[in-house]
Amino acid sequence: MDNDFKSNIIWHQHSITRLKREKKNGHKSIALWFTGLSGSGKSTIANFLEKILFKNGINSYLLDGDNIRSGLCSDLGFSKIHREENIRRIGEVVKIMLDAGMIILVSVISPYRYQREMISKMLGKKNFLEIFIDTPISICESRDPKKLYKKAQAGKISDFTGIQSIYEIPKRPDMILNGTDSLENNSIKLIKILCKHNIISYMNID
Ligand code: ADX
Repeated sequence: MDNDFKSNIIWHQHSITRLKREKKNGHKSIALWFTGLSGSGKSTIANFLEKILFKNGINSYLLDGDNIRSGLCSDLGFSKIHREENIRRIGEVVKIMLDAGMIILVSVISPYRYQREMISKMLGKKNFLEIFIDTPISICESRDPKKLYKKAQAGKISDFTGIQSIYEIPKRPDMILNGTDSLENNSIKLIKILCKHNIISYMNID
């Protein structure tokens, strides 16, 4: 009996490559990794940007922590090790979507520096832009759109990021966005960074 199943898995090189898909799409693929506290505005900014990309015919997809945790990662909690597995699985999905020629917007707290570094290595630095949504915790707490800060403070949730669990600020993110700035301003900055990296060319943002 051959139990070394990994050595029996052989990678298939398909004819339709990432390069061919990128050429067909008229833009390159990349992952924009939005990191920041719950309530910082990650998903709102990513959603706003995606609407602009969509209008301009860009092939994109928004992977959102809450949504992924409703399916692919519904078996995971918020311990350090579970967050690592959450991020790892998302990283694997992103890898596939990069190959599919898409611009992937990932909106996950991803509070640990080493875990974000792990993703950067997994995807390759040229495929990954770390976008830090810098919003003071006092503002996130006052927004509290899901009333989770309130629950965490009342001890009804454990390991809540920013309350019982840490958030490690990125040391050298590719971009820092002020989470209290307008969605229009933040989107313009994101479009500029996509242009700067030659992922897209000119874009109509009206
Ligand atoms: S991550 O830390 O593993 O990257 P992820 O972004 O997937 O987190 O999920 C965060 C979302 O889960 C939050 O936006 C919030 O709605 C919800 N949530 C529930 N419990 C917690 C918790 N203990 N800490 C942080 N977020 C939580």
